[in-house]
Amino acid sequence: MRLHVVDHPLVAHKLTALRDERTDSPTFRRLADELVTLLAYEATREVRVEPFPIHTPVAQTTGVRLSAPKPLVVPILRAGLGMLDGMVRLLPTAEVGFLGMIRDEETLQATTYATRLPEDLSGRQCFALDPMLATGGTLVAAIGFLLERGAVDVTALCLLAAPEGVEVVRSAFEGEARVTVVTAAVDERLDENGYIVPGLGDAGDRLYG
Ligand code: PRP
Repeated sequence: MRLHVVDHPLVAHKLTALRDERTDSPTFRRLADELVTLLAYEATREVRVEPFPIHTPVAQTTGVRLSAPKPLVVPILRAGLGMLDGMVRLLPTAEVGFLGMIRDEETLQATTYATRLPEDLSGRQCFALDPMLATGGTLVAAIGFLLERGAVDVTALCLLAAPEGVEVVRSAFEGEARVTVVTAAVDERLDENGYIVPGLGDAGDRLYG
């Protein structure tokens, strides 16, 4: 597993506003959307492209276009939905699949309650969207699910991560070059309720109330 913490002043600035408890839901949604687009720029660094010849008004040249099959973007419901628009803005031709997962508030175990994904992901590059990487249970299950269906690689975009969760994902996918986590920050720790500290609270609640 590879971890990429996006170190950029605009990312830090938007994340600071997201963390602020005074930020209301409409502003939180807008900032999350903007932040995802910045993370998506880094997360798509290895998206596959192929040569594509074109004519400019001046000359013929060869550029690139996204290779087939299309990348698959997978928001993890519910909070991951708040990251979808920002992601498909950069990858408008991507296909979108859905994974519904909920973490039990007491046991912190993640369970899957909905899947709407292609059966066969052979040859597909996948981008999983989930704002919070807390204990890591949700992301390990989601990434495992996509790899089992044949994804060539999985890049997870998280607004925030806890060091404990990063280690859980790292040990689940030790030495696995197909798995990358891109995040705006790795915070201090998890608290006894499984919340990231200092974090930004419950992303799902702040997005959708
Ligand atoms: C939150 C968050 C992640 C998950 C992270 O979702 O959006 O999906 O918890 O926790 P973990 O790393 O400890 O597994 P939640 O289960 O609260 O569902 P929601 O998105 O519907 O609010």
